[in-house]
Amino acid sequence: MNRPSLKHFYIKSFGCQMNSYDGERMSELLESQGMKPAKDAETADLVVLNTCHIREKAAEKVYSQIGRLRRPDGSSPMIALAGCVAQAEGAEVLARTKMVDIVVGPQAYHHLPELIEKAAAGKVVDIDMPLESKFDALPERRKVGASAFLTVQEGCDKFCTYCVVPYTRGAEVSRPWSRIIKEAHALVDKGAKEITLLGQNVNGWSGEDEAGRAQGLDGLIRALDKIDGLERIRYTTSHPNDMTDGLIEAHGEVKKLMPFLHLPVQSGSNRILKAMNRAHTTESYLALMNRLKAVRPDIALSGDFIVGFPGETEQDFQETLDLISEVRYSLAFSFAYSPRPGTPAADMIDQIEPEISRERLQRLQALLNQHQFEFNQQTVGRKTAVLIERHGKKEGQMIGKSPWLQSVIVETPVAIGDTVEVVLTDAGPNSVKGQPITIDKLETV
Ligand code: 5AD
Ligand code: SF4
Repeated sequence: MNRPSLKHFYIKSFGCQMNSYDGERMSELLESQGMKPAKDAETADLVVLNTCHIREKAAEKVYSQIGRLRRPDGSSPMIALAGCVAQAEGAEVLARTKMVDIVVGPQAYHHLPELIEKAAAGKVVDIDMPLESKFDALPERRKVGASAFLTVQEGCDKFCTYCVVPYTRGAEVSRPWSRIIKEAHALVDKGAKEITLLGQNVNGWSGEDEAGRAQGLDGLIRALDKIDGLERIRYTTSHPNDMTDGLIEAHGEVKKLMPFLHLPVQSGSNRILKAMNRAHTTESYLALMNRLKAVRPDIALSGDFIVGFPGETEQDFQETLDLISEVRYSLAFSFAYSPRPGTPAADMIDQIEPEISRERLQRLQALLNQHQFEFNQQTVGRKTAVLIERHGKKEGQMIGKSPWLQSVIVETPVAIGDTVEVVLTDAGPNSVKGQPITIDKLETV
């Protein structure tokens, strides 16, 4: 790179796991260009804000973040605005703030090195969604943790009426089979024990294997299952209508596929689901959950919920609570509806008062938290494997994940990347403790 002043970069990613993945890939790209990661934004020559646009005044928050990058002497680093706010706002960003040098969308960040070059001469915007895959242009995976993400699919064709994703991430595109298998091998070679396949609609992945046979996500999972050294496979996020028979069967048959599924339902009211354009009903969703439990009785279930969608009555909301009580999620993410400019729901006339949404969200979260705590309590006494991912906050504590995606605190010396057999002991609302039985690097869980 011909910019000797640009030595250190800092990337801050907001929002979903796909943004974390993109952040890692940008980091690898910049490192391949000779730049080094800075320890914070203050000491960086280039700051990349990898933004999220899914809810709440995201753009406003981004502008205040940008403002905070100004240094006491009035200078600022080169600033690249990436991610979904960049895609949605485009050149408008440059009209609103003088501080941003580069606006780059989620499908164009492989152009970062050229954009940095160009930015020396003037501001640049690249929010194209080129046909050429950014993945082909990115360098090989470098360093990864014990648990790594692998994007297999991007974009969404579902057009739920509240959601910006089809506009910011574009149409559904599946990465080719061979590239995914190659990247999975590279991740395992670099120390990953667990791979989480990512996609906005990951179970909509489709492709052809090396023999030219049509495959779905279940086929891909079965191929990854054969990789030596890979212990665990997960995938997120899925749409109920793309839960194929093959994928459900895989949950009963593939040992490395963890007994956990994040399957958003959003609402328990069929009337609201229709207005959301979800194209499934509570009944079809519950039937799926039951089929999954039949093939994998210990499967832990997770979901996303939106309260206060336009037109939601107390009765509709009550139906959501009823559905939650029936499924009993081990983990869940819940949000007050936030109108997103350009989406159909933002123009619906019967918007709900924010106070009502807030109050419903509190009731919903109280129930979800109670179930999560109960789930953790029920696992106490189970003997299971924990994949150690990081150091805990307290001296001597290590944190890992159980097969059911619980955070497990282990207070015995173990290393990151170890798979430790434990008995689960004390349960908290957000984690459980694990008492090691033997410390071993297990082949499988
Ligand atoms: N308002 C509130 N929540 C939303 N989500 C997506 N769009 C909105 C919105 N406009 C939630 C959904 C989705 C999760 C990623 O974010 O629950 O599953
Ligand atoms: Fe958004 Fe998910 Fe619906 Fe696609 S399926 S439009 S990403 S909420």
